[in-house]
Amino acid sequence: MWRLWLLPLGLVYGHACPQKCTCEQAGSVQCFRVQAVPPGLQRDVRSLKLPYNHIKEIKVIYCCLSLICMSDFSMLMELEDISLASCGIETVEVGAFGLQRSLRSLDLQKNKLRQVPRGLPAGLETLRLGHNRIHSLQESTFEGLRRLRVLELHNNLISSLRGNSLSPLVRLDRLYLDANRMEAVQGTLRLPQLHLLSMESNKISSLSSAFFALLQSLRTLRLSGNLLARVPHDLPQGLLHLNLDHNQIRALRSRDMAQLRNLSVLSVSNNRLASVDGGLRLPNLTVLEMPGNNLRALPSRLAPRLERLDCGQNGLQEVGHQHLSAMRHLKHLFLENNTIKHFEGHALRSCFQLTNLALEQNHLSTVPEGLPETLVRLDLKLNRIAAVGEKELRGLKRLQVLNLRNNRLTTLGLPALLHLPRLRRLYLDQNPWNCSCELLRVKRTLLARGVDVAGELCHGPGHAPGDGWRASLLEQDRCEDHIREAAEREQLQVTDIEEDYDYGV
Ligand SMILES: *[C@@H]1O[C@H](CO)[C@@H](O)[C@H](O)[C@H]1NC(C)=O
Ligand SMILES: *[C@@H]1O[C@H](CO)[C@@H](O)[C@H](O)[C@H]1NC(C)=O
Ligand SMILES: *[C@@H]1O[C@H](CO)[C@@H](O)[C@H](O)[C@H]1NC(C)=O
Ligand SMILES: *[C@@H]1O[C@H](CO)[C@@H](O)[C@H](O)[C@H]1NC(C)=O
Repeated sequence: MWRLWLLPLGLVYGHACPQKCTCEQAGSVQCFRVQAVPPGLQRDVRSLKLPYNHIKEIKVIYCCLSLICMSDFSMLMELEDISLASCGIETVEVGAFGLQRSLRSLDLQKNKLRQVPRGLPAGLETLRLGHNRIHSLQESTFEGLRRLRVLELHNNLISSLRGNSLSPLVRLDRLYLDANRMEAVQGTLRLPQLHLLSMESNKISSLSSAFFALLQSLRTLRLSGNLLARVPHDLPQGLLHLNLDHNQIRALRSRDMAQLRNLSVLSVSNNRLASVDGGLRLPNLTVLEMPGNNLRALPSRLAPRLERLDCGQNGLQEVGHQHLSAMRHLKHLFLENNTIKHFEGHALRSCFQLTNLALEQNHLSTVPEGLPETLVRLDLKLNRIAAVGEKELRGLKRLQVLNLRNNRLTTLGLPALLHLPRLRRLYLDQNPWNCSCELLRVKRTLLARGVDVAGELCHGPGHAPGDGWRASLLEQDRCEDHIREAAEREQLQVTDIEEDYDYGV
């Protein structure tokens, strides 16, 4: 069916666009359902896209003086960008792209290659080989690729890495080796311009100091999903982002990390952390992610610039001021799914910028007192809170979202909630409410003030089982009277206050 629309396109751009291809003016061609490079392509094509075709091998037809080799691609000497992703390619013969002196980007991902193709043009900048069957990298594999900046080798079968096999790649900027089978990494990776190294989801249990010695430009290191039992020694000093999620690390110690003075984001979630050195002073750390560990206490005096701290899903039992003093920049604090029973009053008094506090799934029986007035979201669902008093909510002038779902509340006093002028959303469902007229009044008042009360509180005023609808209606009438009277009383009070205020002026 597609032929029907391909044909006219071929006509528009003249005789040079072969069947099964679409040709764009900017020297860009894409072909479908071909088994080789289609003959008849214009010689000045710069971008050739042949993804999702069936091409088993890229063959060299002949070589002259064993220097210049001809392949299907040899007439297309202006090519800068070739995509052969998802073609079922098993082999690329040495020199198959030898004449493409302008080639910058070669995409061979999602094929069946067992080796890195050799003899690739020296100007290549991006080489995508992810999702193949490459099992090893030989010493000479990358020889000559002095301009390569991006190398993707993720999702292959590489089981070991020798530092020197990558040494020719003096300009390499990003290296992806995720989802291979690496257990051991030997030698020194000599890649002076490497910024990003990603080796997630391998089986690495340790990395020697020597490995990092010559990675002086490294800024991002991703090692999540390995078998590391501790933070590797002598990590490059200039690191900004370090991801160690899903390993087996038991402690964060100053002596392993003190040199990381520029580190900004550290993620160690889902490990076995039981301790974090007091005074792990990373001066530029702004994000620390440690959910899913075995911490029993919040680490203290962590990092003065921290903006986001996640200690959810640990074994924390209490929160005190000594833990969080000095955290003047903290904006987001996640402490959900711990066993926090005791939250010291005003424990967060130094957190002048806190907007987001997650305390859901803990053992709190009251709303913590003296929370910072900067809070915008407070999540307290799945605790054991039986009452919410005025004292605790007073001062939360910016609170917009309050979640009290799944607690032990039976009643709710309106005055407490009136301390929250910005409240927009309130979650109250899944509590053992005493469905009184008073509660109905509270709900109506909130709705009238534009607060979105999520979830059904009570369907109507409570009544003994078996009363039937007549009793229910009677009760409802009684409630309406009650609510009207209460509203009138309140109106009077409000007027009084306003008058007082007027007199005061
Ligand atoms: C840390 O960052 C500063 C500022 O960006 C930079 O000048 C310094 O060289 C970095 N330190 C290291 C060890 O890379
Ligand atoms: C890290 O902090 C120091 C001061 O403590 C500062 O001079 C440096 O520029 C910071 N580095 C980065 C990358 O922000
Ligand atoms: C809470 O944490 C425990 C382990 O501490 C974990 O097994 C559980 O899945 C977590 N629950 C949620 C809802 O995250
Ligand atoms: C429910 O509320 C009503 C009215 O406020 C009160 O009389 C009654 O005792 C309460 N019942 C329970 C079980 O708290």
